[in-house]
Amino acid sequence: MTLQDKYDLVFLNEIRGISLEGHMELTANTEKTMVELLDKVKPKRMLEIGFNAGHSAFMWQTLGTTLEYFHAVDICQHQYTKPCSQIMQTIFPEFKFGEMDSKNLGETRSLIEYDTVFIDGDHTTEGFTADLHSCMMGQVDNIIVDDWDLSRGVRHTLQDAVNDVNNPYQITGFYKYDNDNIVRGGRTKSVIALVQRIIPDDTV
Ligand SMILES: C[S@@+](CC[C@H](N)C(=O)[O-])C[C@H]1O[C@@H](n2cnc3c(N)ncnc32)[C@H](O)[C@@H]1O
Repeated sequence: MTLQDKYDLVFLNEIRGISLEGHMELTANTEKTMVELLDKVKPKRMLEIGFNAGHSAFMWQTLGTTLEYFHAVDICQHQYTKPCSQIMQTIFPEFKFGEMDSKNLGETRSLIEYDTVFIDGDHTTEGFTADLHSCMMGQVDNIIVDDWDLSRGVRHTLQDAVNDVNNPYQITGFYKYDNDNIVRGGRTKSVIALVQRIIPDDTV
């Protein structure tokens, strides 16, 4: 049984026939790539920005064997988002969901409790910059940037941040997976950039 089959078993009744915003396709290729990513990151306390219909959240929770807990936020602009988050709660009792604009994350909630954040919400340059800033202010160790390949603004913002000598973050890997992307029409590949906080070892 593939991850997509498992997702369908629990979520399909809620989203059948509804047109969904672009999301992770839970194919064998996606699963293999994400297992590699998870093996490198080993997330313990993880936040997702941009839950949508829960494809990626379901994937992180199912494959993330090192997770202590997993939370997600979304502005809930789609009518299916809240019901899907409730389904997630029934299968993963530790899962918590917040209806909110991630631009307010830095102010309303300290990101310091998370070692890993998956940024997949507002993909505009402004939206991504706010999310990246909140993660860096919260000293999040692992920032997983979705759709790095789709927007020049996102790439430049990220590049500027990691080029800043006062900033301990570096891009440590790229991961290509299958995505159901309505912007580009149907299933395509998407690229995740992994950004990690590298603290020089001054004990040597
Ligand atoms: C591309 S979809 C996420 C797909 C999902 N991560 C997956 O792969 O299954 C983007 C989601 O981000 C949400 N979103 C957009 N802007 C946001 C914001 N400023 N704060 C929180 N969520 C936002 C949208 O409502 C949408 O559900």
